[in-house]
Amino acid sequence: MYPGTKHVLKTLEELVKLLPAGEQAKPQILLLAGGVTPFRDDTDRELVFRQESNFYYTTGCEVPGSYLLVAYQAGTGLASNPTVNLFIPKAELADLMWSVPPPSLEAAKQIFDATRIDHPAALPEAIETLIKALPDALCHTLPRGSPLFPTLAEEYTSLFTTVGDQTAAVTDLYLLPALQQARLIKDEYEVEQIRKANQISSRAHEVVMRVLGKAVKGAITRGEGAGVDRPLLPGEWLIEKEAEAEAIFVASCRREGSVHQAYLPIVAASTRASTLHYCCNDREFAWGPVKPHDHQNRNEFAHGGARQLNPQVLLIDAGCEWSCYASDITRTMPVGNGGKFTPEARAIYELVLEMQKLSMAVLKPGIHWDDVHLLCHVTLVRGFQRLGIFKSPDSPGSGSWNSEDAILASGISSAFFPHGLGHSLGMDVHDVPGASKPQVNSTIANPPKGHADFYTYLRLRLPLEANMVVTVEPGCYFSPHLLAPVRESKHINHEVLARYESVGGVRIEDVVLITNDGYENLTTVKSDTAWVESVCSGDL
Ligand code: GLY
Ligand code: MN
Ligand code: MN
Repeated sequence: MYPGTKHVLKTLEELVKLLPAGEQAKPQILLLAGGVTPFRDDTDRELVFRQESNFYYTTGCEVPGSYLLVAYQAGTGLASNPTVNLFIPKAELADLMWSVPPPSLEAAKQIFDATRIDHPAALPEAIETLIKALPDALCHTLPRGSPLFPTLAEEYTSLFTTVGDQTAAVTDLYLLPALQQARLIKDEYEVEQIRKANQISSRAHEVVMRVLGKAVKGAITRGEGAGVDRPLLPGEWLIEKEAEAEAIFVASCRREGSVHQAYLPIVAASTRASTLHYCCNDREFAWGPVKPHDHQNRNEFAHGGARQLNPQVLLIDAGCEWSCYASDITRTMPVGNGGKFTPEARAIYELVLEMQKLSMAVLKPGIHWDDVHLLCHVTLVRGFQRLGIFKSPDSPGSGSWNSEDAILASGISSAFFPHGLGHSLGMDVHDVPGASKPQVNSTIANPPKGHADFYTYLRLRLPLEANMVVTVEPGCYFSPHLLAPVRESKHINHEVLARYESVGGVRIEDVVLITNDGYENLTTVKSDTAWVESVCSGDL
Protein backbone atom coordinates (compact mmCIF):
# COMPACT_ATOMS: atom_id res chain seq x y z
CA MET A 1 0.00 0.00 0.00
CA TYR A 2 1.30 3.49 -0.86
CA PRO A 3 2.57 5.12 2.38
CA GLY A 4 0.27 8.16 2.10
CA THR A 5 -0.18 8.73 5.85
CA LYS A 6 3.56 8.53 6.43
CA HIS A 7 4.01 11.19 3.75
CA VAL A 8 1.27 13.31 5.31
CA LEU A 9 3.07 13.19 8.66
CA LYS A 10 6.45 14.01 7.10
CA THR A 11 4.85 16.98 5.31
CA LEU A 12 3.21 18.25 8.49
CA GLU A 13 6.44 18.00 10.44
CA GLU A 14 8.11 20.14 7.77
CA LEU A 15 5.13 22.51 7.70
CA VAL A 16 5.21 23.16 11.44
CA LYS A 17 8.90 24.10 11.16
CA LEU A 18 7.99 26.77 8.61
CA LEU A 19 5.20 28.35 10.69
CA PRO A 20 5.67 31.42 12.92
CA ALA A 21 6.32 30.25 16.49
CA GLY A 22 2.87 31.37 17.68
CA GLU A 23 1.11 29.12 15.15
CA GLN A 24 3.08 25.93 15.63
CA ALA A 25 1.05 24.47 18.49
CA LYS A 26 -2.30 25.15 16.79
CA PRO A 27 -4.25 22.45 14.98
CA GLN A 28 -3.35 22.29 11.29
CA ILE A 29 -5.80 21.26 8.58
CA LEU A 30 -4.73 20.33 5.06
CA LEU A 31 -7.15 20.50 2.15
CA LEU A 32 -5.96 19.27 -1.25
CA ALA A 33 -7.78 18.63 -4.49
CA GLY A 34 -6.63 15.93 -6.90
CA GLY A 35 -6.61 16.50 -10.64
CA VAL A 36 -9.70 16.12 -12.80
CA THR A 37 -9.88 14.19 -16.05
CA PRO A 38 -9.24 16.47 -19.02
CA PHE A 39 -11.23 15.84 -22.19
CA ARG A 40 -10.27 16.53 -25.76
CA ASP A 41 -12.68 18.77 -27.64
CA ASP A 42 -15.34 17.01 -29.65
CA THR A 43 -14.08 13.51 -29.13
CA ASP A 44 -15.95 12.54 -25.95
CA ARG A 45 -12.67 10.98 -25.01
CA GLU A 46 -10.27 11.64 -22.16
CA LEU A 47 -6.87 13.22 -22.60
CA VAL A 48 -4.06 11.56 -20.70
CA PHE A 49 -4.71 11.88 -16.96
CA ARG A 50 -1.85 11.94 -14.53
CA GLN A 51 -2.49 12.67 -10.87
CA GLU A 52 -1.10 15.92 -9.45
CA SER A 53 2.16 14.97 -7.75
CA ASN A 54 1.49 16.45 -4.30
CA PHE A 55 -1.92 14.83 -4.14
CA TYR A 56 -0.42 11.48 -5.09
CA TYR A 57 2.38 11.92 -2.55
CA THR A 58 -0.09 12.34 0.30
CA THR A 59 -2.65 9.75 -0.83
CA GLY A 60 -1.29 7.31 -3.41
CA CYS A 61 -4.66 7.90 -5.07
CA GLU A 62 -4.81 8.19 -8.84
CA VAL A 63 -8.60 8.55 -8.98
CA PRO A 64 -9.45 11.83 -10.74
CA GLY A 65 -11.75 14.25 -8.90
CA SER A 66 -10.65 13.20 -5.39
CA TYR A 67 -9.98 15.33 -2.29
CA LEU A 68 -7.89 15.01 0.85
CA LEU A 69 -8.73 16.56 4.23
CA VAL A 70 -6.26 16.10 7.11
CA ALA A 71 -6.25 17.25 10.74
CA TYR A 72 -3.06 17.35 12.81
CA GLN A 73 -1.81 19.03 15.95
CA ALA A 74 1.77 18.88 17.19
CA GLY A 75 2.12 17.62 20.75
CA THR A 76 -1.28 15.84 20.78
CA GLY A 77 -2.57 12.42 19.73
CA LEU A 78 -3.20 13.92 16.28
CA ALA A 79 0.55 14.27 15.82
CA SER A 80 1.12 10.52 15.54
CA ASN A 81 -2.36 9.66 14.26
CA PRO A 82 -3.58 12.47 12.04
CA THR A 83 -7.14 12.29 10.76
CA VAL A 84 -6.80 11.49 7.07
CA ASN A 85 -10.02 11.77 5.07
CA LEU A 86 -9.96 10.78 1.42
CA PHE A 87 -12.93 11.57 -0.81
CA ILE A 88 -13.23 9.73 -4.11
CA PRO A 89 -16.01 10.20 -6.66
CA LYS A 90 -18.99 7.90 -6.67
CA ALA A 91 -19.30 5.67 -9.71
CA GLU A 92 -22.10 6.90 -11.96
CA LEU A 93 -23.99 4.65 -14.33
CA ALA A 94 -22.44 6.50 -17.27
CA ASP A 95 -18.95 5.75 -15.90
CA LEU A 96 -19.76 2.07 -15.86
CA MET A 97 -20.98 2.18 -19.40
CA TRP A 98 -18.32 4.37 -21.01
CA SER A 99 -15.17 3.86 -19.01
CA VAL A 100 -13.62 2.36 -15.92
CA PRO A 101 -15.41 3.64 -12.78
CA PRO A 102 -13.68 4.74 -9.58
CA PRO A 103 -13.40 1.97 -6.97
CA SER A 104 -16.28 1.47 -4.52
CA LEU A 105 -15.71 2.78 -0.98
CA GLU A 106 -15.19 -0.80 0.23
CA ALA A 107 -12.60 -1.50 -2.44
CA ALA A 108 -10.92 1.87 -1.83
CA LYS A 109 -10.43 1.02 1.86
CA GLN A 110 -8.26 -1.92 0.79
CA ILE A 111 -6.23 0.22 -1.60
CA PHE A 112 -5.65 3.56 0.13
CA ASP A 113 -4.01 4.48 3.42
CA ALA A 114 -6.62 6.76 5.08
CA THR A 115 -8.63 6.88 8.29
CA ARG A 116 -11.86 7.51 6.44
CA ILE A 117 -12.88 7.18 2.80
CA ASP A 118 -16.06 8.78 1.51
CA HIS A 119 -17.52 10.55 -1.51
CA PRO A 120 -16.92 14.28 -2.21
CA ALA A 121 -20.56 15.03 -1.31
CA ALA A 122 -19.52 14.41 2.31
CA LEU A 123 -16.63 16.91 2.17
CA PRO A 124 -18.47 20.12 3.25
CA GLU A 125 -19.85 18.46 6.36
CA ALA A 126 -16.45 16.95 7.16
CA ILE A 127 -14.86 20.41 6.95
CA GLU A 128 -17.55 21.93 9.20
CA THR A 129 -17.11 19.17 11.75
CA LEU A 130 -13.35 19.68 11.86
CA ILE A 131 -13.62 23.44 12.24
CA LYS A 132 -16.11 23.07 15.09
CA ALA A 133 -13.83 20.55 16.82
CA LEU A 134 -10.66 22.57 16.19
CA PRO A 135 -11.81 26.20 16.17
CA ASP A 136 -8.37 27.81 16.15
CA ALA A 137 -7.06 25.61 13.34
CA LEU A 138 -5.00 26.95 10.49
CA CYS A 139 -6.08 25.52 7.12
CA HIS A 140 -3.43 24.97 4.48
CA THR A 141 -3.95 24.70 0.73
CA LEU A 142 -1.66 24.66 -2.28
CA PRO A 143 -1.33 28.09 -3.95
CA ARG A 144 -4.88 28.99 -4.93
CA GLY A 145 -5.39 30.51 -8.36
CA SER A 146 -2.16 28.91 -9.63
CA PRO A 147 -2.58 27.02 -12.93
CA LEU A 148 -0.03 24.50 -11.62
CA PHE A 149 -2.44 22.94 -9.13
CA PRO A 150 -5.98 21.59 -9.33
CA THR A 151 -8.60 24.19 -8.48
CA LEU A 152 -10.01 23.99 -4.99
CA ALA A 153 -13.63 25.08 -5.32
CA GLU A 154 -14.67 28.19 -3.41
CA GLU A 155 -17.55 26.18 -1.92
CA TYR A 156 -14.95 24.34 0.20
CA THR A 157 -12.46 27.08 1.06
CA SER A 158 -15.23 29.56 1.93
CA LEU A 159 -16.37 27.18 4.67
CA PHE A 160 -13.32 28.15 6.66
CA THR A 161 -14.61 31.67 7.09
CA THR A 162 -18.31 31.03 7.25
CA VAL A 163 -18.84 28.21 9.71
CA GLY A 164 -20.83 29.58 12.66
CA ASP A 165 -18.90 32.36 14.32
CA GLN A 166 -15.60 30.59 13.78
CA THR A 167 -13.05 32.25 11.53
CA ALA A 168 -10.59 29.49 10.82
CA ALA A 169 -7.76 30.98 8.79
CA VAL A 170 -6.81 29.69 5.36
CA THR A 171 -3.28 30.12 4.04
CA ASP A 172 -1.49 28.88 0.93
CA LEU A 173 1.99 30.01 2.02
CA TYR A 174 3.33 26.95 3.80
CA LEU A 175 1.95 23.73 2.32
CA LEU A 176 3.85 23.73 -0.98
CA PRO A 177 7.28 24.43 0.58
CA ALA A 178 6.56 21.78 3.22
CA LEU A 179 5.61 19.20 0.58
CA GLN A 180 8.69 19.99 -1.49
CA GLN A 181 10.95 19.68 1.52
CA ALA A 182 9.36 16.34 2.46
CA ARG A 183 9.60 15.04 -1.11
CA LEU A 184 13.30 15.94 -1.44
CA ILE A 185 14.34 12.93 0.67
CA LYS A 186 12.92 9.65 -0.60
CA ASP A 187 11.78 6.66 1.42
CA GLU A 188 12.27 3.02 0.50
CA TYR A 189 8.89 2.73 -1.23
CA GLU A 190 9.64 5.72 -3.45
CA VAL A 191 13.14 4.48 -4.30
CA GLU A 192 11.65 1.17 -5.44
CA GLN A 193 9.30 2.94 -7.87
CA ILE A 194 12.15 5.08 -9.23
CA ARG A 195 14.32 1.95 -9.52
CA LYS A 196 11.62 0.20 -11.54
CA ALA A 197 11.11 3.20 -13.85
CA ASN A 198 14.88 3.29 -14.42
CA GLN A 199 15.11 -0.42 -15.15
CA ILE A 200 12.33 -0.23 -17.74
CA SER A 201 13.86 2.86 -19.37
CA SER A 202 17.34 1.33 -19.28
CA ARG A 203 16.05 -1.68 -21.21
CA ALA A 204 14.32 0.63 -23.70
CA HIS A 205 17.61 2.46 -24.36
CA GLU A 206 19.34 -0.88 -24.87
CA VAL A 207 16.59 -2.04 -27.24
CA VAL A 208 17.20 0.98 -29.46
CA MET A 209 20.96 0.32 -29.46
CA ARG A 210 20.46 -3.36 -30.24
CA VAL A 211 18.08 -2.61 -33.13
CA LEU A 212 20.69 -0.21 -34.54
CA GLY A 213 23.34 -2.92 -34.18
CA LYS A 214 21.21 -5.60 -35.82
CA ALA A 215 20.66 -3.33 -38.79
CA VAL A 216 24.43 -2.77 -39.13
CA LYS A 217 24.85 -6.55 -39.33
CA GLY A 218 22.02 -6.80 -41.86
CA ALA A 219 19.97 -8.87 -39.42
CA ILE A 220 16.93 -6.64 -39.77
CA THR A 221 15.55 -6.56 -43.23
CA ARG A 222 12.28 -5.60 -44.72
CA GLY A 223 10.55 -8.75 -45.94
CA GLU A 224 9.15 -9.03 -49.40
CA GLY A 225 6.53 -6.40 -50.12
CA ALA A 226 7.01 -4.77 -46.72
CA GLY A 227 6.26 -1.07 -46.83
CA VAL A 228 4.85 -1.40 -50.33
CA ASP A 229 2.22 -4.14 -50.48
CA ARG A 230 1.86 -4.41 -46.75
CA PRO A 231 2.88 -2.47 -43.65
CA LEU A 232 6.15 -3.18 -41.87
CA LEU A 233 5.88 -5.59 -38.96
CA PRO A 234 7.68 -4.72 -35.69
CA GLY A 235 10.57 -7.11 -36.45
CA GLU A 236 11.18 -5.23 -39.69
CA TRP A 237 11.48 -1.80 -38.09
CA LEU A 238 14.86 -0.34 -38.95
CA ILE A 239 15.81 2.85 -37.17
CA GLU A 240 16.65 5.44 -39.79
CA LYS A 241 14.74 8.39 -38.40
CA GLU A 242 14.41 10.05 -35.03
CA ALA A 243 10.72 9.11 -34.98
CA GLU A 244 11.56 5.42 -35.44
CA ALA A 245 13.96 5.49 -32.50
CA GLU A 246 11.35 7.26 -30.35
CA ALA A 247 8.66 4.76 -31.36
CA ILE A 248 10.81 1.79 -30.35
CA PHE A 249 11.82 3.41 -27.04
CA VAL A 250 8.24 4.23 -26.10
CA ALA A 251 6.91 0.86 -27.28
CA SER A 252 9.45 -0.95 -25.12
CA CYS A 253 8.37 1.00 -22.02
CA ARG A 254 4.69 0.61 -22.79
CA ARG A 255 4.91 -3.14 -23.28
CA GLU A 256 6.50 -3.36 -19.82
CA GLY A 257 3.43 -1.67 -18.36
CA SER A 258 4.59 1.92 -18.03
CA VAL A 259 1.69 4.21 -18.86
CA HIS A 260 3.43 7.57 -19.23
CA GLN A 261 6.77 8.90 -20.26
CA ALA A 262 8.10 11.10 -17.46
CA TYR A 263 8.68 13.86 -20.06
CA LEU A 264 8.59 14.13 -23.84
CA PRO A 265 11.47 12.08 -25.23
CA ILE A 266 14.38 14.02 -26.75
CA VAL A 267 15.57 12.05 -29.79
CA ALA A 268 18.13 14.07 -31.71
CA ALA A 269 20.34 12.74 -34.48
CA SER A 270 23.40 14.41 -35.97
CA THR A 271 24.09 18.01 -34.93
CA ARG A 272 20.56 18.37 -33.59
CA ALA A 273 22.06 16.75 -30.48
CA SER A 274 23.37 20.22 -29.63
CA THR A 275 19.82 21.40 -28.87
CA LEU A 276 19.47 20.55 -25.19
CA HIS A 277 15.74 19.98 -25.11
CA TYR A 278 15.24 19.22 -28.82
CA CYS A 279 11.61 18.37 -29.21
CA CYS A 280 10.66 17.56 -32.77
CA ASN A 281 12.03 14.04 -33.16
CA ASP A 282 10.90 14.26 -36.79
CA ARG A 283 14.04 14.18 -38.94
CA GLU A 284 15.77 11.45 -40.84
CA PHE A 285 19.27 10.54 -39.83
CA ALA A 286 21.95 12.28 -41.86
CA TRP A 287 22.45 10.57 -45.17
CA GLY A 288 24.55 13.40 -46.51
CA PRO A 289 27.85 14.44 -44.94
CA VAL A 290 27.29 15.89 -41.51
CA LYS A 291 28.39 19.48 -41.49
CA PRO A 292 28.79 21.64 -38.42
CA HIS A 293 25.41 23.00 -37.36
CA ASP A 294 23.61 21.53 -40.32
CA HIS A 295 20.53 21.05 -38.21
CA GLN A 296 18.28 20.09 -41.07
CA ASN A 297 20.57 17.64 -42.80
CA ARG A 298 18.26 18.09 -45.70
CA ASN A 299 17.20 14.44 -45.76
CA GLU A 300 19.33 13.96 -48.87
CA PHE A 301 21.03 10.83 -50.05
CA ALA A 302 24.79 11.29 -49.97
CA HIS A 303 25.71 8.80 -52.57
CA GLY A 304 23.09 8.93 -55.25
CA GLY A 305 20.61 6.15 -54.72
CA ALA A 306 22.90 4.08 -52.50
CA ARG A 307 21.69 4.98 -49.04
CA GLN A 308 24.55 5.12 -46.65
CA LEU A 309 24.27 6.54 -43.19
CA ASN A 310 26.99 9.04 -42.53
CA PRO A 311 28.79 8.95 -39.20
CA GLN A 312 26.78 10.84 -36.61
CA VAL A 313 25.53 10.57 -33.08
CA LEU A 314 22.02 9.80 -31.90
CA LEU A 315 21.23 11.38 -28.54
CA ILE A 316 18.23 9.94 -26.71
CA ASP A 317 17.18 11.59 -23.45
CA ALA A 318 14.11 9.66 -22.41
CA GLY A 319 12.65 8.01 -19.35
CA CYS A 320 9.34 6.50 -18.44
CA GLU A 321 7.27 6.87 -15.32
CA TRP A 322 6.29 4.04 -12.99
CA SER A 323 3.36 4.68 -10.62
CA CYS A 324 3.96 8.43 -10.78
CA TYR A 325 7.74 8.13 -10.23
CA ALA A 326 10.17 9.20 -12.93
CA SER A 327 13.32 8.10 -14.65
CA ASP A 328 15.56 10.35 -16.72
CA ILE A 329 18.30 8.71 -18.79
CA THR A 330 20.41 9.96 -21.67
CA ARG A 331 22.51 7.82 -23.93
CA THR A 332 24.44 9.02 -26.96
CA MET A 333 25.06 6.34 -29.53
CA PRO A 334 27.00 6.08 -32.79
CA VAL A 335 25.07 5.78 -36.02
CA GLY A 336 26.67 5.16 -39.41
CA ASN A 337 30.41 4.28 -39.50
CA GLY A 338 29.46 0.66 -38.82
CA GLY A 339 28.04 1.61 -35.41
CA LYS A 340 31.33 3.08 -34.13
CA PHE A 341 32.03 6.64 -33.11
CA THR A 342 34.29 8.76 -35.31
CA PRO A 343 37.58 9.63 -33.57
CA GLU A 344 36.24 13.11 -32.77
CA ALA A 345 32.89 11.83 -31.46
CA ARG A 346 34.69 9.17 -29.41
CA ALA A 347 37.01 11.77 -27.86
CA ILE A 348 34.06 13.93 -26.82
CA TYR A 349 32.09 10.88 -25.61
CA GLU A 350 35.01 9.76 -23.45
CA LEU A 351 35.46 13.23 -22.05
CA VAL A 352 31.79 13.42 -21.04
CA LEU A 353 32.06 9.95 -19.54
CA GLU A 354 35.10 11.12 -17.58
CA MET A 355 33.13 14.16 -16.35
CA GLN A 356 30.41 11.79 -15.16
CA LYS A 357 32.76 9.24 -13.56
CA LEU A 358 34.79 11.84 -11.65
CA SER A 359 31.53 13.45 -10.45
CA MET A 360 30.11 10.16 -9.28
CA ALA A 361 33.32 9.29 -7.48
CA VAL A 362 32.83 12.17 -5.03
CA LEU A 363 29.11 11.67 -4.37
CA LYS A 364 28.20 11.19 -0.72
CA PRO A 365 26.23 13.04 1.95
CA GLY A 366 27.68 16.43 2.79
CA ILE A 367 29.29 17.28 -0.54
CA HIS A 368 27.81 20.44 -2.04
CA TRP A 369 26.31 19.97 -5.50
CA ASP A 370 27.91 23.25 -6.60
CA ASP A 371 31.31 21.65 -6.01
CA VAL A 372 30.46 18.55 -8.05
CA HIS A 373 29.23 20.78 -10.88
CA LEU A 374 32.44 22.82 -10.72
CA LEU A 375 34.49 19.61 -10.88
CA CYS A 376 32.80 18.88 -14.22
CA HIS A 377 33.90 22.25 -15.59
CA VAL A 378 37.46 21.57 -14.40
CA THR A 379 37.37 18.16 -16.12
CA LEU A 380 36.03 19.70 -19.32
CA VAL A 381 38.71 22.40 -19.36
CA ARG A 382 41.48 19.83 -18.80
CA GLY A 383 40.00 17.58 -21.49
CA PHE A 384 39.71 20.43 -24.00
CA GLN A 385 43.32 21.41 -23.33
CA ARG A 386 44.35 17.80 -23.90
CA LEU A 387 42.44 17.73 -27.20
CA GLY A 388 43.80 21.13 -28.19
CA ILE A 389 40.38 22.79 -28.41
CA PHE A 390 41.42 25.09 -25.57
CA LYS A 391 44.95 26.45 -25.68
CA SER A 392 47.41 25.68 -22.92
CA PRO A 393 49.94 28.12 -21.46
CA ASP A 394 52.66 26.37 -23.45
CA SER A 395 50.79 26.48 -26.81
CA PRO A 396 52.58 28.58 -29.46
CA GLY A 397 51.93 32.27 -28.85
CA SER A 398 50.13 31.49 -25.63
CA GLY A 399 50.81 32.39 -22.03
CA SER A 400 49.49 32.27 -18.50
CA TRP A 401 46.16 33.69 -19.67
CA ASN A 402 45.48 30.15 -20.90
CA SER A 403 46.16 28.45 -17.59
CA GLU A 404 43.43 26.15 -16.32
CA ASP A 405 42.48 28.70 -13.66
CA ALA A 406 42.33 31.56 -16.15
CA ILE A 407 40.14 29.58 -18.54
CA LEU A 408 37.83 28.59 -15.68
CA ALA A 409 37.63 32.19 -14.49
CA SER A 410 36.68 33.32 -18.01
CA GLY A 411 33.54 31.13 -17.89
CA ILE A 412 34.14 29.96 -21.48
CA SER A 413 33.51 26.30 -20.63
CA SER A 414 29.82 27.17 -20.19
CA ALA A 415 29.63 27.68 -23.98
CA PHE A 416 30.22 23.91 -24.25
CA PHE A 417 28.59 22.68 -21.02
CA PRO A 418 25.81 25.22 -20.53
CA HIS A 419 23.41 23.31 -18.30
CA GLY A 420 23.56 22.02 -14.76
CA LEU A 421 25.18 18.73 -13.82
CA GLY A 422 21.85 17.38 -12.59
CA HIS A 423 18.74 17.83 -10.53
CA SER A 424 16.61 16.16 -7.93
CA LEU A 425 14.34 13.49 -9.42
CA GLY A 426 11.25 11.92 -7.92
CA MET A 427 7.62 12.11 -8.88
CA ASP A 428 8.59 14.91 -11.26
CA VAL A 429 11.66 14.92 -13.44
CA HIS A 430 12.89 18.31 -12.26
CA ASP A 431 11.58 17.48 -8.83
CA VAL A 432 10.78 19.87 -5.99
CA PRO A 433 12.38 22.99 -7.47
CA GLY A 434 11.53 25.11 -4.42
CA ALA A 435 13.44 22.82 -2.09
CA SER A 436 16.29 22.09 -4.54
CA LYS A 437 17.24 25.65 -5.35
CA PRO A 438 16.19 27.73 -2.39
CA GLN A 439 15.86 31.47 -2.91
CA VAL A 440 17.69 32.13 0.32
CA ASN A 441 20.05 29.40 1.33
CA SER A 442 23.06 29.84 3.51
CA THR A 443 24.50 26.56 2.23
CA ILE A 444 25.15 27.93 -1.27
CA ALA A 445 28.87 28.42 -1.67
CA ASN A 446 29.24 32.14 -1.25
CA PRO A 447 30.41 33.34 -3.66
CA PRO A 448 30.17 30.17 -5.79
CA LYS A 449 33.53 29.01 -7.03
CA GLY A 450 34.34 29.29 -10.74
CA HIS A 451 32.38 31.63 -12.99
CA ALA A 452 28.81 32.76 -12.21
CA ASP A 453 27.67 31.53 -15.65
CA PHE A 454 28.36 27.94 -14.58
CA TYR A 455 25.43 28.09 -12.17
CA THR A 456 22.75 29.72 -14.33
CA TYR A 457 20.89 26.49 -15.02
CA LEU A 458 22.00 24.46 -12.04
CA ARG A 459 18.76 23.15 -10.57
CA LEU A 460 20.20 21.75 -7.36
CA ARG A 461 22.13 24.07 -5.02
CA LEU A 462 22.43 22.03 -1.85
CA PRO A 463 24.76 19.74 0.03
CA LEU A 464 23.73 16.16 -0.74
CA GLU A 465 21.87 14.12 1.87
CA ALA A 466 21.34 10.38 2.12
CA ASN A 467 18.23 9.23 0.22
CA MET A 468 18.19 12.10 -2.22
CA VAL A 469 17.78 10.90 -5.79
CA VAL A 470 19.61 13.02 -8.36
CA THR A 471 20.63 12.84 -12.00
CA VAL A 472 24.27 13.08 -13.03
CA GLU A 473 24.19 14.35 -16.59
CA PRO A 474 27.27 16.10 -17.93
CA GLY A 475 27.27 17.09 -21.57
CA CYS A 476 29.43 18.71 -24.20
CA TYR A 477 27.85 20.53 -27.13
CA PHE A 478 28.88 22.44 -30.22
CA SER A 479 25.86 24.67 -30.60
CA PRO A 480 26.02 27.52 -33.13
CA HIS A 481 24.11 29.73 -30.73
CA LEU A 482 26.44 29.12 -27.82
CA LEU A 483 29.56 29.30 -29.96
CA ALA A 484 28.65 32.64 -31.60
CA PRO A 485 29.85 34.77 -28.66
CA VAL A 486 33.17 32.87 -28.34
CA ARG A 487 34.17 32.82 -32.02
CA GLU A 488 36.97 35.30 -31.38
CA SER A 489 38.10 33.83 -28.06
CA LYS A 490 41.83 33.67 -27.47
CA HIS A 491 41.37 30.59 -25.30
CA ILE A 492 40.22 28.52 -28.29
CA ASN A 493 42.25 26.99 -31.10
CA HIS A 494 39.60 27.58 -33.74
CA GLU A 495 41.09 25.19 -36.28
CA VAL A 496 40.92 22.33 -33.81
CA LEU A 497 37.43 23.32 -32.71
CA ALA A 498 36.25 23.18 -36.34
CA ARG A 499 37.16 19.48 -36.47
CA TYR A 500 34.84 18.71 -33.57
CA GLU A 501 31.82 20.81 -34.41
CA SER A 502 30.07 18.21 -36.54
CA VAL A 503 29.90 15.93 -33.48
CA GLY A 504 26.94 18.11 -32.43
CA GLY A 505 26.58 17.06 -28.83
CA VAL A 506 27.04 14.30 -26.30
CA ARG A 507 25.19 13.88 -23.03
CA ILE A 508 25.31 10.91 -20.66
CA GLU A 509 22.74 10.87 -17.86
CA ASP A 510 22.19 8.40 -15.04
CA VAL A 511 19.94 8.52 -11.97
CA VAL A 512 21.63 7.88 -8.64
CA LEU A 513 20.48 7.37 -5.07
CA ILE A 514 22.69 9.04 -2.45
CA THR A 515 23.48 6.46 0.24
CA ASN A 516 25.03 6.85 3.69
CA ASP A 517 28.54 6.57 2.33
CA GLY A 518 28.31 7.12 -1.40
CA TYR A 519 25.74 6.43 -4.08
CA GLU A 520 23.90 3.66 -5.90
CA ASN A 521 23.38 3.97 -9.64
CA LEU A 522 19.70 3.20 -10.38
CA THR A 523 20.30 3.32 -14.14
CA THR A 524 21.20 -0.12 -15.38
CA VAL A 525 22.01 0.45 -19.05
CA LYS A 526 25.76 0.67 -19.47
CA SER A 527 27.54 3.60 -21.03
CA ASP A 528 31.20 2.66 -21.38
CA THR A 529 32.46 3.31 -24.87
CA ALA A 530 33.41 -0.25 -25.72
CA TRP A 531 30.01 -1.62 -24.71
CA VAL A 532 28.04 1.09 -26.54
CA GLU A 533 30.06 0.60 -29.72
CA SER A 534 29.85 -3.20 -29.51
CA VAL A 535 26.07 -3.12 -29.17
CA CYS A 536 25.47 -0.39 -31.74
CA SER A 537 27.68 -2.19 -34.25
CA GLY A 538 25.93 -5.50 -33.65
CA ASP A 539 29.10 -7.18 -32.33
CA LEU A 540 27.60 -7.95 -28.92
N1 GLY B 1 15.27 15.24 -19.48
C1 GLY B 1 15.57 16.57 -19.08
C2 GLY B 1 16.74 16.62 -18.24
O1 GLY B 1 17.61 15.80 -18.37
O2 GLY B 1 16.89 17.41 -17.36
MN1 MN C 1 17.84 15.27 -16.28
MN1 MN D 1 17.24 13.92 -19.24
